[in-house]
Amino acid sequence: MAHKYIIGNWKMNNNPLEASTLLHRLDEKVAADQNVSVVICPPFIDLYPLARDLNKAKFRLGSQNIHYLDQGAYTGEISPAMLKGLVDFAIIGHSDRRIKANEDDKIIAKKVAAALRNTIRPILCVGENLLDHQHGVAREVVSGQLTADLSMITAAEIAQVLITYEPVWAISANSQVGPATPDDVLPMVRLIRQTVGGLYGEAAAQAVPVLYGGSVNPHNAKAYLKLEGTSGLLVGAASLNYAEFSDIIKTAQKLA
Ligand code: PGA
Repeated sequence: MAHKYIIGNWKMNNNPLEASTLLHRLDEKVAADQNVSVVICPPFIDLYPLARDLNKAKFRLGSQNIHYLDQGAYTGEISPAMLKGLVDFAIIGHSDRRIKANEDDKIIAKKVAAALRNTIRPILCVGENLLDHQHGVAREVVSGQLTADLSMITAAEIAQVLITYEPVWAISANSQVGPATPDDVLPMVRLIRQTVGGLYGEAAAQAVPVLYGGSVNPHNAKAYLKLEGTSGLLVGAASLNYAEFSDIIKTAQKLA
């Protein structure tokens, strides 16, 4: 089995004290496994305190967003240059940001490039909304997002990128339909690899980690992880619960 990634996206939850308690609980439950990378993506304010007592053999840190510039007059923003050395990963293009913060593919492409130039691995999220899903245009939407979002990076840089297929309608907070079925996910994972192959060649298509995200929980995690070509999971709500998140991690470790 290829390397797996389990990413916890805490979203706007947990102050520094709560964050450190949650990480401590998780640390007690989870063993280190070199075949599974566990990446915690807390709010910015938690990154520095968590980094100080993080068990690096078990966990890595990621941010939930970055700015596309390294510095400047952008009140309230956090740049990738400021995060360099503190995080190994950054979620970019999450649908919360595409929809609630009006981020378009142009901005997302700049953010992917900005992460890479600061040695931060982008976890690029793509996925169709409910209307696109119902109208049967998910494939066009996802390949279009991907092509635009990767437009500023080179063939050498694609090796550092992770891609998550996260249909907007399947995210628990949107709770429109519930999780995508493995049958929904498999063709989209293939499409993502195909699109990367068209842009960067067959070796890149096979190597790029492609994850699934959307209402993942301890009960459904295994079915996604067993899908051919699926390299891991992006977990939102269930990552806030150490018992549930550690179960998901253990499932990945058993399969890896
Ligand atoms: P969820 O969130 O697991 O709560 O559906 C996933 C995400 O939005 O990243």
